Amino acid sequence: MNNPMYDEFAREYDSAIQNNSYNAHYERPSLLSLLPEVNEKTVIDLGCGPGLYSKFLVENGAKVTAVDGSQEMIQIVKEKLGDQIDCYVQNLADGLPNEQDQTFDVAVCPLMIHYLEDFTKLFTDIKRILKPDGIFIFSTHHPFVDYQLSPSGNYFLTEKIVDEWDTVGRPVRVEYYRRPLTSIIQAIVDAGMYVITLTEGEPASHMQESSPESYQKLSTEPGFLFLKCKVVS
Ligand SMILES: C[S@@+](CC[C@H](N)C(=O)[O-])C[C@H]1O[C@@H](n2cnc3c(N)ncnc32)[C@H](O)[C@@H]1O
Repeated sequence: MNNPMYDEFAREYDSAIQNNSYNAHYERPSLLSLLPEVNEKTVIDLGCGPGLYSKFLVENGAKVTAVDGSQEMIQIVKEKLGDQIDCYVQNLADGLPNEQDQTFDVAVCPLMIHYLEDFTKLFTDIKRILKPDGIFIFSTHHPFVDYQLSPSGNYFLTEKIVDEWDTVGRPVRVEYYRRPLTSIIQAIVDAGMYVITLTEGEPASHMQESSPESYQKLSTEPGFLFLKCKVVS
């Protein structure tokens, strides 16, 4: 098992993120605003979790491959999408050894890369499996936010963070990596891609009424970082 952490609360996570503030009304709309037209395109969903992005992609006419390190997440995706999708378990720290060169039009990777201490291999493989004009979009923790939890106080280090979240309605111990913004951008460039768009996202305006505290917070400080990248041709 590559990421037992998510196996433990996969089904709770699935129901929690259907309609919550941070995922449903901030992260997904912000990342999807960077998604190109996917009808009849080949799209790979990396760190697919319980398949909310995969479902959206299938419904919008894409031919989707979904990959996650958690057996339980992949089981959920199979239950939801069955043979409408290809999906399998893969530790993405090892890249994408099962995928052929220049196969996909688009790669999406929402909220996953911060679980990898080193995503050099993954980014190199994303570039390899994308077609020459391929697009890679991803979201991750905003480096300035994670820096507040830095054990060393040195922004320029990559460090493991042990944290506790209540996303699923009870405290859950999580581990991930924080790193400076430079490392993220450098990994994109080293892999042979370039950044088209970088945003810090926007909470949906209806959160003003449904979740005023989260709306206020996300309107005055960043939560995640959203990037759209293109293969250097
Ligand atoms: C925060 S969830 C995001 C799920 C989904 N992308 C979404 O936004 O709804 C992170 C996902 O990354 C997966 N993940 C974490 N580490 C991984 C690894 N090393 N290899 C593959 N998947 C991993 C987890 O299992 C989990 O499903």
